[in-house]
Amino acid sequence: QPHVVDSVAALRARIRDWRRDGQRIAMVPTMGALHDGHLSLVKIALERADRCVVSIFVNPTQFAPTEDLDKYPRQLARDLDMLAAVKADLAFTPGVSEMYRAGFATKISVGGPSAGLETDFRPTFFDGVATVVAKLLLQAAPDFAIFGEKDYQQLCVVRQLCRDLDLPVEIIGAPTIRDAHGLAMSSRNAYLDEADLQIARQFNVILRKAAAALAAGAGQEETIAEASRVLVATGFQKVDYVEARESLTLTPWRRDRAGRVLAAAWLGKTRLIDNVEVPAA
Ligand code: PAJ
Repeated sequence: QPHVVDSVAALRARIRDWRRDGQRIAMVPTMGALHDGHLSLVKIALERADRCVVSIFVNPTQFAPTEDLDKYPRQLARDLDMLAAVKADLAFTPGVSEMYRAGFATKISVGGPSAGLETDFRPTFFDGVATVVAKLLLQAAPDFAIFGEKDYQQLCVVRQLCRDLDLPVEIIGAPTIRDAHGLAMSSRNAYLDEADLQIARQFNVILRKAAAALAAGAGQEETIAEASRVLVATGFQKVDYVEARESLTLTPWRRDRAGRVLAAAWLGKTRLIDNVEVPAA
């Protein structure tokens, strides 16, 4: 099993020892309830670095009062077993009061790629993410930090954060891990019953079809509207957004640029997000 620390002081002491030995360090921030998507990030981390620290912290500041903070899955013992299997060195499992001391009063707010998409529906989400990610990167001071393309807008926001604040860490984006039906792995998939799972598995199929149509020259507005219609016809109760954006900046997509189709939709009380690349024409 990985060594487990739950204080910033103990985290720093362990990392200081590794640094003294000249080792390169990678960090994988998570909220736990680990699955193969998370483990793929650890594997990428250990291809680049000698040591991998995984943080497990369900960050309250990125949940709105109406969201699933209380029922978010927590399964530390199982998570540690999974981390042992991929040879992660250290798990950082701070409590809420370790990360947010009494009187905590700082917020990091990233502009640029945080505009629209998730922010239209979760207006304070990226402030919470940026603040906790900045803290984690300052606490561990890794050489690399790995983030999944599953949360594509989050990856872009984290890149912007590190560039703007000169955080001395290289951000690595990692491909989305999917089940055999193409459904992107997510801790929130645990909320889905068998009927919902069948519908959820169409999500990536519908987005890939839209991305292929865009690549083949179909009109953007019609293609996006059609994808949204098909999602509802398939059984999603509500579509928060389907949009084509430019891959690097997340500004609106233009045909001559690398593009990404991003979407969020609801199945009952579960909100799913996914995104796919617009294949090169
Ligand atoms: P969490 O949802 O636990 O995800 C942790 C990391 O795993 C993120 O970088 C996410 O993009 C990646 N990930 C999740 N599912 C994946 C999949 N199917 N394939 C590849 N990577 C996947 O994202 C968060 O936690 C939080 O917002 C966090 C960054 C930890 C800040 O609290």
